[in-house]
Amino acid sequence: MATLHAAYALLSLAPLLVVSDPPVVYTQPEQVHLSYPGVPGSMVVTWTTFNSTDSLVEYSPWGGRLFDESAQGSATLFVDSGSEKRKMYIHRVTLSDLKPGSRYVYHCGSEMGWSDMFWFKPLDHTSTSPSFALYGDLGNENPQSLARLQKETQTGILDAILHIGDFAYDMHEDNARVGDEFMRQIQSIAAYVPYMTCPGNHEATYNFSNYRNRFSMPGQSESLWYSWNIGPAHIISLSTEVYFYLEYGQELLFRQYEWLKRDLEEANKPESRAARPWIITMGHRPMYCSDDDQDDCTTFDSFIRRGRNDTKPPAPGLEDLFYLHGVDLELWAHEHTYERLWPVYGDKVYNGSTEDPYTNPKAPVHIITGSAGCRERTDKFNPNPKDWSAFRSTDYGYTHMQVVNRTHVYLGQVSDDQSGKVIDSIWIVKEKHGYDAWL
Ligand SMILES: *[C@@H]1O[C@H](CO)[C@@H](O)[C@H](O)[C@H]1NC(C)=O
Ligand SMILES: *[C@@H]1O[C@H](CO)[C@@H](O)[C@H](O)[C@H]1NC(C)=O
Ligand SMILES: *[C@@H]1O[C@H](CO)[C@@H](O)[C@H](O)[C@H]1NC(C)=O
Ligand SMILES: *[C@@H]1O[C@H](CO)[C@@H](O)[C@H](O)[C@H]1NC(C)=O
Ligand SMILES: *[C@@H]1O[C@H](CO)[C@@H](O)[C@H](O)[C@H]1NC(C)=O
Ligand SMILES: [Fe+2]
Repeated sequence: MATLHAAYALLSLAPLLVVSDPPVVYTQPEQVHLSYPGVPGSMVVTWTTFNSTDSLVEYSPWGGRLFDESAQGSATLFVDSGSEKRKMYIHRVTLSDLKPGSRYVYHCGSEMGWSDMFWFKPLDHTSTSPSFALYGDLGNENPQSLARLQKETQTGILDAILHIGDFAYDMHEDNARVGDEFMRQIQSIAAYVPYMTCPGNHEATYNFSNYRNRFSMPGQSESLWYSWNIGPAHIISLSTEVYFYLEYGQELLFRQYEWLKRDLEEANKPESRAARPWIITMGHRPMYCSDDDQDDCTTFDSFIRRGRNDTKPPAPGLEDLFYLHGVDLELWAHEHTYERLWPVYGDKVYNGSTEDPYTNPKAPVHIITGSAGCRERTDKFNPNPKDWSAFRSTDYGYTHMQVVNRTHVYLGQVSDDQSGKVIDSIWIVKEKHGYDAWL
């Protein structure tokens, strides 16, 4: 009887026993992800701990003696701006002199806790035909494409992933716990291939602080805008949000524009363009789209396309800048749909020819890919798209891109709704690049 009595006593205590959170090892690394700093043979590993620890990565070529090499980095304290002012340490370690051709295995952390073991393929001069998955608008809730991306990443067919803005929905929510959970969810892809990002409108809260603190993109702009080279491509990532959140500093818009101009001039120097003929941009909000919402891209005077004249001085848009500098391909998201455009400039179509519109196109090609999956579901299309709209889909999914060589780029849209079927694909073929290619 005594035992039964004791059991009842324990049962009655049960509600009291579960009121506190389970114990957490605050020195355990989590949210591991990679990014490419743009220097061949190097890779940045970024992760989070909730107490201060060392920042170490131990690694070795696949098949060699484990963890023969090690590299040290540093951590920054990120204090979220929510009511709890939650603290976390963001660790960054750069690996360099990685040998081409072999995979590496690694773990990260410190003597106070190590992550699981992951692997990656270094990016370097041997990455001549790089393959990418690209998408925007992937959230914690309803992340429909994530499973397919996990499997594709782990089969080793991707060199990098481009996430074109809008993460987690939203990283700052629940005192940034939503951000933590998102970064844990994408570890299954982002710990294996460089996860290259740009900010979207869902990152805006507290002046993009979750975005700026959690990612480690190249350059000195806190991941807001930067460029990098891979194989025959120069890839430019930018913030379209500087056109909309003027309260965080109108000067950011002008600073980015000046940076873009200089970067494009540099990328167009004959020796640069000879080495990397393809110039590809990625930014969250498109300048064209045929969705039926009232977003910027549905208007003729899109801020992104034409700039703003309600600022002092007026803010230039991006269409002319990109056209004049011979940008080949512009990747966007934000609309929760997929849309491919015929080559377009100034609201007019400039096909290479009617039979082969993407062979020697006379204007940049735009792809909008914002249907990876999030709690806002997918968007609807306007029933009467303009002439520049070539293909549209409201299926969940993402895009494959391969920069095959100097003349050929492949793009294909993977529908997750249709079990991975490629529902749209094109080859962009260019014998000539740069502004002169339009003439
Ligand atoms: C470790 O982190 C927890 C959670 O943020 C915090 O409560 C605790 O004070 C930290 N301990 C040290 C030694 O910093
Ligand atoms: C927002 O962040 C950017 C990037 O760090 C900074 O340049 C800008 O001054 C910040 N704006 C405000 C209002 O704090
Ligand atoms: C200013 O921009 C608005 C909308 O972007 C446009 O309708 C208007 O024509 C422009 N005004 C001038 C003077 O350019
Ligand atoms: C561009 O090419 C496509 C495909 O051949 C065609 O349907 C479309 O009408 C062309 N547009 C123009 C303006 O020539
Ligand atoms: C570039 O790739 C395309 C598509 O695979 C191929 O047809 C073409 O011959 C390649 N060009 C060169 C110079 O290798
Ligand atoms: Fe968005």
